Order: sequence, then C-alpha cells, then structure tokens
Amino acid sequence: MVAYGSERRLTGSTGVLGVIGDPIAHSLSPAMQNAALEALALDYIYVPFHVNPLHVGEAIAGMKAFGIRGLNVTIPHKVAVIDHIDEIEPVAGLIGAVNTISNEGGRLVGYNTDGRGFLQSLKEEADREPPGQRITIIGAGGSARAIGFQLAVSQVERLVIANRTRGKALALAAEIADKTKCSTVGIGLHQLESYLPATDILINTTSLGMHPQVDTMPPVECGKLPSSALVCDIVYNPSETLLLRKAAACGLPTLPGLGMLVYQGAAALEIWLQVKPPIDVMKAVVKQELENCSQN
Ligand code: ATR
Repeated sequence: MVAYGSERRLTGSTGVLGVIGDPIAHSLSPAMQNAALEALALDYIYVPFHVNPLHVGEAIAGMKAFGIRGLNVTIPHKVAVIDHIDEIEPVAGLIGAVNTISNEGGRLVGYNTDGRGFLQSLKEEADREPPGQRITIIGAGGSARAIGFQLAVSQVERLVIANRTRGKALALAAEIADKTKCSTVGIGLHQLESYLPATDILINTTSLGMHPQVDTMPPVECGKLPSSALVCDIVYNPSETLLLRKAAACGLPTLPGLGMLVYQGAAALEIWLQVKPPIDVMKAVVKQELENCSQN
C-alpha cells in the first residue's frame, strides 16, 4: 500500500496486520496502527477480525495460510492463542498471555507487550525506571498480571498486589514471587492504606473510574502516599480518572493510561516491522477517536 496524501492504495504486495478479539468493533487499534503505517509510508494494512472463541485455532491457522505478518490479540483470546503458536517469548510465558503474534516466515512467535507498554510509558512520560522502586498494584486480573510480571523482572524493590478479592491477590503475588524471585505481598483492599506510605509507584489496573463509572475510584487516600509517589491509572477513558484528579490535587505526579495503550501498540509494530513507531501520531489518533466516542 502506498500513501498518497491521506489516500491509501492496496496492491498485490500489501502486507497484512490485524487484531483478533470478541468483541472487536470498538477497538482503537485499527485507527492507531493504520495512522502509524501511513505516517511511515509502509505498504501494510491493519485489519480488525472478529473471532468467536470457538474459532481461535482456525484463526491462527489462517494467519499462517494467509501469510498475515502480525496479529494483536485482545479479550478474550490472549490465553487461548498460546496453544496454537510455535514459540512464546519468556515474559509472555511467565504472564501466561499473548497480545502480539509475529509470523516469522511461517513460524508464529507470541509476545506480551502490555507490561512493556506500561514500562515504556513510565520511562518516556514520567521519567521513572523500575529498579529499586516499591510498587503497589491495585487489581489482580489480566492487566495486573502483565504489568506485575514485567515489573518483577525489572529489578523492582517490592511488589504489593491489592485486590477486592484477597485470595486472587495472594495467589498472583505468590506466583510472581515463585517464578521471578521478586519480593511480593498480596493483600485485600482494606489493607491498602498501611502500604501507601511505603509506595513509590501506585498503579490502578481495575475498571474503577472507567467510563461510564467515572465517579468511582479505588480506596486510595492520596495524602498517605509519599510526596514523590507517582500515581498511575491504566484506564484511558476518561483520560484523567477521579483517582488521578485526587492525586494531582494532593500535589502528586500522575500518569494516565493513554501512554500504555499507545506504547503496547508501538511495541508490536517494532516487533513486526523493526521500525521506530510515530508515537505522537498514534497518540493524537487515539485521543481523537476517544473524543469522537464521547460525542456519540
Ligand atoms: P483486566 O484484564 O482489565 O485486568 P480483569 O481480569 O477482569 O480485567 O480484572 C479486573 C480487576 O478489577 C480485578 O482485580 C477485579 O477485582 P476482583 O478480582 O475482586 O473481581 C477488579 N475490580 C473490578 N471491579 C471492581 C470494583 N468495583 N471494586 C474493586 N475492584 C474491582
């Protein structure tokens, strides 16, 4: 595909990338990735594929058959695809979930760029690096797993996982400690307060605060955090959650979720095409898409 201004032309040699999920219609990835491909004038197109969970194996076989260069994988297929690929990179193997598949000449390699995207956002947008940091993650679902394992292999000092269902926090903390040797603690949300004074980076991975429940937030008393603590939210709609507004009102630095979304997609582009992704273009497109959504 060749970019002529904003007009793109498919040819016989246009490469195909895409995303599989169920549902998929509201994914922001096609707009974000196609804008990046266009900005880089690359002869590729990025297509959304709605794949029923019953057909995951056939979809991945189809990836090989059609010579699709790369796929992103979203809910609910991130675990199921593992049975159908040829190789998995170490961190994705630890996480037990794949969000990016690269077709290396017919050999399918699985990656997880969710945690990597968060770390990149942390570095580029908040100027923080994981080594030596005391981290508190709120939530123990799929996003907490990806971010938790990525931080655990990045020399953090300690990882606290706080979750409404305490048993899930305990299980994830034990699994991360077991597999990575990182020091971890699992707690219930009611115990969170006592860990706040010893937190350098706090990360909300729950849906609290996400549209349409914009008036909700996890039980974080921001005044109990050290004045240099960074408060992060992986929720990107709204762009600034109630948690981040409260943290900013306390004078704390904050990191919104848009960066993780953009950098996880950028990391996939790097894996597939070995290019330097146009981060600013990708961010602008996602912001525009979110604005369009909120107006509809
Ligand atoms: P994701 O893949 O985005 O992480 P998930 O795997 O469904 O989504 O995990 C959702 C997380 O948000 C869980 O940690 C969940 O807590 P429980 O394990 O107790 O269910 C948390 N969560 C969702 N709604 C919540 C709420 N109202 N209060 C507190 N935690 C909530």
